[in-house]
Amino acid sequence: MLIKLKNVNFTYMSNTPLAQRALENVSLSISAGEFVGLIGPTGSGKSTLVQHLNGLLEPLEGEVLIEGKKIGGEISPLLVRQKIGLVFQFPESQLFEETVFKDIAFGLRNLGYPDDEIEGRVRKALAMVGLDYFEFKDRSPFTLSGGEMRRVAIAGVLAMNPSCLVLDEPTSGLDSIGTREIISHLERLNREEGLTIILISHDMDEVAHLASRVIVMNEGKIEFDDSPRRVFSQKSDLLKIGLDIPQFTSLLFMLKEGGLDVPLALFELNEVKNAIVSALERRFS
Ligand SMILES: Nc1ncnc2c1ncn2[C@@H]1O[C@H](COP(=O)(O)OP(=O)(O)OP(=O)(O)O)[C@@H](O)[C@H]1O
Ligand SMILES: [Mg+2]
Repeated sequence: MLIKLKNVNFTYMSNTPLAQRALENVSLSISAGEFVGLIGPTGSGKSTLVQHLNGLLEPLEGEVLIEGKKIGGEISPLLVRQKIGLVFQFPESQLFEETVFKDIAFGLRNLGYPDDEIEGRVRKALAMVGLDYFEFKDRSPFTLSGGEMRRVAIAGVLAMNPSCLVLDEPTSGLDSIGTREIISHLERLNREEGLTIILISHDMDEVAHLASRVIVMNEGKIEFDDSPRRVFSQKSDLLKIGLDIPQFTSLLFMLKEGGLDVPLALFELNEVKNAIVSALERRFS
């Protein structure tokens, strides 16, 4: 098992009057190769949870295991940070070097990798996010578009060769082209390179399209942990905690309420179209 959390509890500023409980008895296991969507209303503990996965935050109670080893005890935080690459929200705000190359190479230099190894890794990382090495390596990160900046920030994490990529709202604030670029690369990294991905998102269509498993957080607890089909069928529970459902699911719910016999949790245009056509054929045959 790549990642395992056992009864993790976490409170910010514990033992002070400002104490704020953020995770309550969270247990979960994530295997290599999964694509997990992590959703939940604002303040539900998503960012707190992912910061536990790479040792940035330590549980107050419970434990976090990476490949069976306890963070802090059997595996060092440095190694954990390399294995579990975390891309923060608005990661472009952390770009600071004068060229794209230096920015992506930063972590590798700190670890003392030789120059030729660094160059190879930077090239590969740029290719993984679809940016041409020669076109981008000498540019200042600050002259890039928002979507390009974000891809450079993701490349900086990928250059460390992580087993798992964790992204905290990687498409928020991007236009639809920037969003599509990022999404298509995440899809490919998971499918073709077998990279484990954990994606926090407020966009239910994005999660339904990408994830093979959806974890729903609410008030620091896991509410659901299941396939997208099963999770997004829980329309009233999701609406109650302030979440949406994917647009196609919404449409299918309306058709069903209007008396058409369609399945509810389909997320791809073609599947939805075929389901509606066959329901209409059944009805009028
Ligand atoms: N640094 C902090 N100090 C004190 N409390 C915090 C801190 N960071 C988060 N919290 C609190 O912990 C709880 C969980 O916050 P967290 O940021 O994990 O939620 P989230 O699900 O990521 O929300 P969002 O969707 O808005 O990013 C919230 O009640 C929040 O106010
Ligand atoms: Mg957050």
